[in-house]
Amino acid sequence: MNIFVTGGAGYIGTHTILELLALDYNVVAVDDFSNSKPIAIERVKELAGRDFTFYEANVCNISKMDEIFSKHKFDCVIHFAGKKAPGESVEKPLEYYKNNLDSTMALCEVMKKNNVKKIVFSSSCTVYGANNPMPLTENSSVGECINPYGWTKFMCEQILTDVVNANKDWSVALLRYFNPVGAHESGRIGEDPQGIPINLMPHIAQTVVGRIKYLHVFGDDYDTPDGTCIRDYIHVVDVAKGHVAAIKYIDKNAGVSTFNLGTGDGTSVLEFISTFETATNKNVPYKISPRRPGDAPICYASTNKAENELHWKAEKSLANACEDTWRWQSMNPNGYERKNIYK
Ligand code: WQD
Repeated sequence: MNIFVTGGAGYIGTHTILELLALDYNVVAVDDFSNSKPIAIERVKELAGRDFTFYEANVCNISKMDEIFSKHKFDCVIHFAGKKAPGESVEKPLEYYKNNLDSTMALCEVMKKNNVKKIVFSSSCTVYGANNPMPLTENSSVGECINPYGWTKFMCEQILTDVVNANKDWSVALLRYFNPVGAHESGRIGEDPQGIPINLMPHIAQTVVGRIKYLHVFGDDYDTPDGTCIRDYIHVVDVAKGHVAAIKYIDKNAGVSTFNLGTGDGTSVLEFISTFETATNKNVPYKISPRRPGDAPICYASTNKAENELHWKAEKSLANACEDTWRWQSMNPNGYERKNIYK
């Protein structure tokens, strides 16, 4: 099968391409390097021990996308490309709506023109409303998003649903990620946030490697056992394998299918820190700080539907993710070095 991967140089894109190549899928990837680096693509080829076609381009560029689709006969698309920082989306809503919605609509237009009818979409648990009981199921209420980033994911899910309603032979998988963490066990690819990290794991890793003085724990007065927020942290390799399972599923099932990609386990911030310290034998200096606006106290997934229908279940532990992240961060203290090998 020929798979077209947008955002292929990104955190989840690189790990997913590696899984696809290992299973002998043919991959063509695109990335504009607005939030990633060319060396990530080279590292994936090195780890896979095989080449794949890559284009530096923006998915919103319809003529370029059409040119790529005319050169390759794709069986399925995985759409990762998009802006993904919830906090930044509050400051720059128009950028987020334009980029995330235009890229999805442009891709659907080019797919339709080139008779490609299967797509796996990178969605998010941020589409769920804040007042849902836990664990979150795929039938939990959606559409009370707390930031423009979440709204763009909610709107893209709606766009894809309406495209399927108008084209009954299309197959769409909407994958709602919980909190992807970790890195490939080689330490050669990993999460490389640009600028000051937003998410917990890269913040911890950059603190321990010495790039940041200490970790701020955003609030310890929530209604949880230890007062800190609870999340569902899932190893990025398990997320990548979930995409392979979704490709297989939509190859046999038309229509729109929604799946949570989580572990079903909730971990608090303090439990996370303790797990990281035990797994790496490193100390994580931290200070309790004020709450971060918009943080939900508890968020974790029901994984029954993905297990029963995708026949996929997360296999790695948070301790594995901490070990793998630390190997990546200690081998790459400054993340991917910027070498513009495609220029
Ligand atoms: C986790 C917990 C923070 C940093 C993420 C992605 C979002 C979506 C859902 C995919 C919170 C606390 C964090 C720090 C801290 N995933 N924290 N100090 O907010 O759940 O959202 O998962 O779409 O895109 O951003 O993840 O890692 O930012 O925060 O105390 O320096 O860690 O308060 O409780 P979040 P996060």
